[in-house]
Amino acid sequence: MEPSAQILPEDGATIDSLDAYRARGGGEAFERARASAPEAVIEELRRAGLRGRGGAGFETAVKWSTVRGDPAPIKFVCANGAEGEPGTFKDRHLLRTNPYQVIEGLAIARHVIGAERAYLCVKRRFEPEIAAVRRALEELARFSEMAAAIELVLGPDEYLYGEEKALLTVVEGGPALPRVLPPYIHGLFAPPYDGRQPERHHPTVVNNIETLAHVTRIVGNGAEQFRRFGTANTPGTMLFTVSGDVQHSLVTERPLGTTLRELIFEVAGGPPPGRELKAVMPGLAGAVMTADRLDTPLSFEAMHQAGSALGSGGFVVYDDHACMAHVAWLCSRFLHAESCGQCPPCKLGSERITERLERLLNGSGHRRDLDDITATLAWVPNGARCGLATSEALVVGSLLRAFPGDFDAHLRGSCHLRHNDILPKITDYVPGHGFIYAGTPHRPGSTDG
Ligand SMILES: Cc1cc2nc3c(=O)[nH]c(=O)nc-3n(C[C@H](O)[C@H](O)[C@H](O)COP(=O)(O)O)c2cc1C
Ligand code: SF4
Repeated sequence: MEPSAQILPEDGATIDSLDAYRARGGGEAFERARASAPEAVIEELRRAGLRGRGGAGFETAVKWSTVRGDPAPIKFVCANGAEGEPGTFKDRHLLRTNPYQVIEGLAIARHVIGAERAYLCVKRRFEPEIAAVRRALEELARFSEMAAAIELVLGPDEYLYGEEKALLTVVEGGPALPRVLPPYIHGLFAPPYDGRQPERHHPTVVNNIETLAHVTRIVGNGAEQFRRFGTANTPGTMLFTVSGDVQHSLVTERPLGTTLRELIFEVAGGPPPGRELKAVMPGLAGAVMTADRLDTPLSFEAMHQAGSALGSGGFVVYDDHACMAHVAWLCSRFLHAESCGQCPPCKLGSERITERLERLLNGSGHRRDLDDITATLAWVPNGARCGLATSEALVVGSLLRAFPGDFDAHLRGSCHLRHNDILPKITDYVPGHGFIYAGTPHRPGSTDG
């Protein structure tokens, strides 16, 4: 049988024992990596063209070779499983389905980078995933070196925990506050970098856990097999989460280059009968996608060209009953609440925008509020330490530009669209049945639903 080219089991199975994992070839990639020169493993990842699945699409080989080539004697690696973006559940689904593959990818990373320790970071609230990872680590510890020096970190619920610089402060026992310098310059347990003592900056690699599962596949099966799917610049498969106004909310693995239309209509069943698709939000990663852009292939480059982003593959679909002014308010309120306040333009600007949107939805807004929002969007990302402020600018700005009629209708007091949507913060997933969400519908100043 040809080895599987995807990371989720093709037969829909859950890999819940080491025996089951080994029966599918589990463990071979780690042995192959240990028998190879670290540079050869990095070269394989480079040939595969693997790009990070945590949002930015950064090339994994470049990240690893930067830290491997650093003369600092102490290095670390972190697996980012803190998934908290509205409309995503793929990392949790992956950990539930096959934690071994993620741990194997992390062990390969530790070996190749020459890291002293590895940390697998999830949220304290992710109980089923924690149980799966603990069990896998215990089994692996009895069987091989793979689990050696890997520590499970249970972090807070904040969205910012998933931001890589904040993740490091959490691993160190601190709050989820992004620091200034990136992990490869100011790594774990290092004193603030003063540019003069490279041996003390502990360069650290942070990778999304899906990225690490792909590493296992690539090292096990080779770059050619990985490249059989996807596009030239975004090869392979990717996990996608589709939620909102679709007939089948789900997590699915598809070849990159699949179009947004195929994902939403053929895989997720499209909007409910009688409804038209109005908009698709790529989580909070980028600008809203409108119905005329549905034929965009799902790749980092094509989504960028379309003025949006692939992000971490979470897509929230809105049909023609949804009010996008309400969606803008939901996103802005979330980002304001999650902003840590270290950069005043981010915290104050998102507060100002949320308040103006709230006024608009309450029926007490004026044209000058919309002008004020546009002016504020221009300075929200000023001096930002992390990407959260940029999300506010991209998401709210794109909704204002794409759906001016929805905002104007509120100025006239004549919006008859739906206002009981919630931001899809997914708390559970039963394949075939869909998602469970946190929170209840709420519209400012109203009880409608
Ligand atoms: C506000 C914010 C939240 C983020 N949340 C996550 C997250 O939950 N999981 C994740 O892997 N990356 C998240 N990221 C991206 C990480 O900072 C980082 O780019 C990623 O973990 C790198 O892994 P990759 O190269 O494998 O994609 C977030 C970024 C920002 C700005
Ligand atoms: S950009 Fe916003 S969330 Fe990010 S560090 Fe600054 S204040 Fe905090």
